[in-house]
Order: sequence, then structure tokens, then C-alpha cells
Amino acid sequence: MEIDFAGLKAREAYAWMIATILPRPVAWVATVSPDGKTNLAPFSFFQGVTANPPTLMFVPVNTREGAKKDTVRNIEATGEFVVNLVPFVLVEAMSATSASLPYGESEFEKFGIAAAPSTTVRPPRVAAAPVAFECKLDRIVTIGEGPLAANVVFGKILRVHVADAVLGADGKPDAGKMDLIARLGGDGYARTTERFELERP
Ligand SMILES: Cc1cc2nc3c(=O)[nH]c(=O)nc-3n(C[C@H](O)[C@H](O)[C@H](O)COP(=O)(O)O)c2cc1C
Repeated sequence: MEIDFAGLKAREAYAWMIATILPRPVAWVATVSPDGKTNLAPFSFFQGVTANPPTLMFVPVNTREGAKKDTVRNIEATGEFVVNLVPFVLVEAMSATSASLPYGESEFEKFGIAAAPSTTVRPPRVAAAPVAFECKLDRIVTIGEGPLAANVVFGKILRVHVADAVLGADGKPDAGKMDLIARLGGDGYARTTERFELERP
């Protein structure tokens, strides 16, 4: 089959994209409001961008009502965020934090998620996350307007925390020990329990 995206409503295009672009890593993003209230939410439109300078991106889209999500509001106001990676043991806590809470209500507090202080930015990190990137806002690029329009957040990576427990004998992060989850279509998730290696030419 072929689908002409020009004939699709935004919600239909979204459904096809999330059912096909997979597996997607999940950025579990911590921010603070200007008056210091913490916020935590997952985003699976997420990737590294370049190492020169070290940069990552994730994409909070506007709500169905066309409003900016709390994460975007906080980053616009403070210019800082932390991207935590999500291991299988935290998948239910991560999913809980996708609930839409009133602005200023903390997912860390509501769902009992332990936070640890960051070193160079105000938002805390998720204490049990195996990897957490402290980031400073580079820029936000908007694509589209209104409901589901994108706020592409680019962040400069200032520092990474890596749990000693996920390091392999070579001192590098071990994918098996990290046990990160990835988003599939619908309510689906994948684990990186089946892996293989392939040498590059
Ligand atoms: C696994 C997962 C991935 C998600 N990915 C995205 C995403 O890429 N972009 C987005 O706008 N919302 C995504 N969501 C929904 C947001 O997490 C949700 O709208 C959340 O309430 C936003 O929180 P905030 O208003 O505190 O920023 C995802 C939810 C889950 C569970």
C-alpha cells in the first residue's frame, strides 16, 4: 500500500509515523519552572545530533488544544534541562509521568520518583537512571502551527552522569547492563535483550 500524506489529517499522519519509525529511544526530560517546581516527562522523538558541539534533540509537540507542554514552557523560561535514559525497571514510572498534570505540579513528587542533584544545571536528574545528560538550551525550532505542531528542542550537552553499575570491563557503557527500553507503535515497547554485532566496511 501507499499513503499520500497530503491527504491525511495531522492525527492520522502522527499515527502512521509512530507505527513505523521504530524503535525510538525515550528522553525522560527533567525541567524546573522559574519558581523552582520540578517537572518530568517522556519524549520518544529523540536523538543525538552532533558531537561538534555535543548536541541532542527531542520534540515536544503542542497539545491537541495547541498549547505548549510544560517541558517547553520551562525550557523557554530557564534554558536548562536534563535528559535521563530509561531502563526496563523504570518503564512504569516513566509511563506514569506522561500524565497531564497541572502546570507546577511535580511528577517527581506525585509518583515518588527519587531525584538526585545535577552538577551544572538546576533541574535534578532521576537518581536511578543509568545515564543522565545535563543540557543547556541551544535553540527551539518550531515546525507547523497549532495542535501537534513541533517544538524541536536542541540542547548542548554539558555533562553526562553514567552509573558505575552499567560500565563494562572496558570502562564503557554496556548495552546489556543498561537494559534501556525503546518505544514501538501503539502501547508497545522493546527491550535490547536480543543484540548482534556487524563490522563496518
Ligand atoms: C513513551 C512515551 C513517549 C512520548 N513521546 C512524546 C513525544 O515525542 N512528543 C510529545 O510531545 N509527547 C510525547 N509523549 C507524551 C508526553 O510525555 C505527555 O504529553 C506529557 O504529559 C508531557 O508532559 P509536560 O506537559 O509535563 O511537558 C510520550 C509519552 C510516552 C509515554
